[in-house]
Amino acid sequence: MSVEIIDGKAVATSVRDDVTKAVSGLPSQPTLAVVLVGDDPASHVYVRNKIKFTEETGMRSLEHRLSADVSQEDVVKTVRALNADDEVDGILVQLPLPSGMDSDAVIAEIDPAKDVDGLTEASAGRLVLGQPGLRPCTPTGCVILAKSALGDLTGKHCVIIGRSILVGKPAALLFLEQNCTVTIAHSRTKDIAAVCREADILVPAVGRPEMVKADWVKPGACVVDVGINRVPHPKKPGKSRLVGDVDFKAASEVSGPITPVPGGVGPMTIACLLRNTVLAACDRRGWDRPDILSV
Ligand code: GUN
Repeated sequence: MSVEIIDGKAVATSVRDDVTKAVSGLPSQPTLAVVLVGDDPASHVYVRNKIKFTEETGMRSLEHRLSADVSQEDVVKTVRALNADDEVDGILVQLPLPSGMDSDAVIAEIDPAKDVDGLTEASAGRLVLGQPGLRPCTPTGCVILAKSALGDLTGKHCVIIGRSILVGKPAALLFLEQNCTVTIAHSRTKDIAAVCREADILVPAVGRPEMVKADWVKPGACVVDVGINRVPHPKKPGKSRLVGDVDFKAASEVSGPITPVPGGVGPMTIACLLRNTVLAACDRRGWDRPDILSV
């Protein structure tokens, strides 16, 4: 049977194109502010990409780099200044913050109207209550990918593996909003393989390399793999490679549409961040949300 790969890069490009079109129709350019603390190399790469794509879609970006030894109070002051800056539509504090800093306390300072990561208590509360708001980026990307492959998700059984605040819990609520029947499986779930085999849509988000085996996947099920795990390269000593939470090679022979790693969920996170920046700008400035972003 031929493998049906969901091309996350292509879907992300199409979302970014939609954002570019939407931005060109707005009365003024939205601005995204990114706060980067310390010198974590992966965070620097993520932030560079976020800024590059922000500008490619025609929006403005502001970057605030703070050194690793800065105090939490100084990070909070930066966030408060961005809250007060009327030019700024979206604020993103890149995680993780240096050890010893209380990320929750810093995130709590972000004005919910500018919370383009969807991580504040207000954004989480609105998601639970079914009120409009800014939704977390990676779980939104998962829903868009599943819809790109399956169309309407109504009535599908979605099994999410993992109950994290960043992905598992919000993903469950977002798939529920799509009228799915949702199960959250986790480390204490009994016979997790059997639970996963019930899924029409399987969304592993645990960070365990290739944990999901082919016999966990119902034949034809859609698999959206959130895991990004760096493991030693099997053939090149000293080198590494990226794998997901799914044993892709074996699972893709059983599954229906499936996302690869890399090139699946990863590119969607930034695309959804850009989309949220447009939505935040529209809501805050009293402009209609463009239809083009109705996914
Ligand atoms: N670090 C890794 N992914 C993310 C993300 O989506 N948002 C933020 N703020 N930090 C991250």
